[in-house]
Amino acid sequence: MNILVAGAAGVIGRRLLPLLAKDGHNVVGTTRQASKSSLIEELGASPVVVDVFDREELHRVVRATQPDVIIHQLTDLGDRDFVANGRIRRVGTRNLVDAARAVGVRRMIAQSIAWAYAPGEGPADESVPLDVESPLSRRGLVESIQALEQAVLEMEHGIVLRYGLFYGPGTWYAPDGFIAEQVRHGESIANEGVTSFVHIDDAARATLEALVWPAGIVNIVDDEPASGSCWLPVYAAALNTPAPPVDSTRPPFARGALNTKARQRLNWQPIYPSWRDGFAK
Ligand SMILES: NC(=O)c1ccc[n+]([C@@H]2O[C@H](COP(=O)([O-])OP(=O)(O)OC[C@H]3O[C@@H](n4cnc5c(N)ncnc54)[C@H](OP(=O)(O)O)[C@@H]3O)[C@@H](O)[C@H]2O)c1
Repeated sequence: MNILVAGAAGVIGRRLLPLLAKDGHNVVGTTRQASKSSLIEELGASPVVVDVFDREELHRVVRATQPDVIIHQLTDLGDRDFVANGRIRRVGTRNLVDAARAVGVRRMIAQSIAWAYAPGEGPADESVPLDVESPLSRRGLVESIQALEQAVLEMEHGIVLRYGLFYGPGTWYAPDGFIAEQVRHGESIANEGVTSFVHIDDAARATLEALVWPAGIVNIVDDEPASGSCWLPVYAAALNTPAPPVDSTRPPFARGALNTKARQRLNWQPIYPSWRDGFAK
């Protein structure tokens, strides 16, 4: 297939490009920075420099590429700027979907998250609504996810991958990542909020497999949603640092997610079914 990966130099793009190349796909990968072109080339794709907020240039790139599918991996989290990241989700996705539809591209696979579900008992499957009634502190996140997903689902064949929290090489949870630094400096507190993780290689493999999945929304998370009081001590041990203190609070929306659809209907099989094994690698 001809594939355009938007945001090819990010944490997932770097693991995904070699998988796509190995499967024989013809891949164009975007970045904003010409200095990252050689990295994209080394990973097996043809680099293109474009800013997703430049609608005209974006249209030109999509028209020139004529992709069978666009894989949307645009985030803006390098500086942990969550406002900028919300703008990418809302405005960047809008621009990408408009460019795709204007050129006649039918398929898009896009990155979303598995922690925007409404509060409730137990981990959420894809039928649970987004947490659109959430308090203001969280509402911006949920609304940006809603805008991203609605835009992608306007495509003739839109697939939304709701990834769990990434860990593994290049992520915030890697030994040189900022969460690891926080834990080492005693700045973390474990609570009873439940998180679903996914190893970055499992997220990349799911994205590759999604090239032939039906349209719709899929949680891409591991098998073991876990409370902070459960996973943080294991993570700290993998970093050879003392376990953080624990408090008993549980934010009601921190409920984790289920991967039943990905596993049973789409036959996705994670290499790391649990963060217990993955953290130690
Ligand atoms: N599910 C999760 O847990 C999750 C998801 C995403 C990220 N994260 C965390 O966030 C950290 C940073 O993520 P990241 O490495 O993927 O970097 P990032 O800064 O979020 O960038 C991802 C990609 O989007 C591109 N991009 C950003 N703004 C753009 C714009 N205006 N126009 C066009 N392209 C744009 C970037 O381009 P450039 O190449 O020009 O930078 C890059 O290729 C990771 O370490 C990860 O742990 C977590």
